[in-house]
Amino acid sequence: MLALLVKMTKARRVLEIGTLGGYSTIWMARALSEDGQVTTIEANPHHAEIARLNIEQAALGHRIDLRVGTALEILPSLTRPFDLIFIDADKPDNPAYLDWAMKLAQPGTIIIGDNVVRGGAVVDEGSSDPNVKGVRAFLKMISEDPRLEATAIQTVGEKGWDGFVMAVVKE
Ligand SMILES: C[S@@+](CC[C@H](N)C(=O)[O-])C[C@H]1O[C@@H](n2cnc3c(N)ncnc32)[C@H](O)[C@@H]1O
Repeated sequence: MLALLVKMTKARRVLEIGTLGGYSTIWMARALSEDGQVTTIEANPHHAEIARLNIEQAALGHRIDLRVGTALEILPSLTRPFDLIFIDADKPDNPAYLDWAMKLAQPGTIIIGDNVVRGGAVVDEGSSDPNVKGVRAFLKMISEDPRLEATAIQTVGEKGWDGFVMAVVKE
């Protein structure tokens, strides 16, 4: 789906927060035009090394800028604008990632946040789970931000019941 979105929007600059092994990174990089680039941030050096090897094997090193460190350390060093921003790291920091996404976006930028349904736990307003609290605050910020139009979609697959939120920065 991310690759389709990159193609449909003709995104040239993509930002990903949370690389893991580079699976989504590689899908998005393959969908880019020759001059496009994915900047992806990973805090865990072991995951980043696996991602680096996967990117090398996919022969996509020229299209992927892998930054190793915590997202909140790295985001201030990036230059805007990005055309598509995929937020998929630690959920408690999602509100801070949305603030950064808005600073790094431009009108028309797409922002995707993964894992926002959490087996339905997201509707529990009294939840003490920091992931649920982070996602709830993130969704509230998106819904109240007049610069954004958004929808959240539930998914059921081999990883269970979850979903993503998709927003666009208004023109
Ligand atoms: C769900 S995985 C990313 C999956 C990947 N986007 C994909 O779809 O293939 C989340 C990743 O975020 C990383 N992460 C967690 N906290 C982070 C932080 N503060 N800054 C950057 N990365 C972080 C984790 O180490 C993990 O590799």
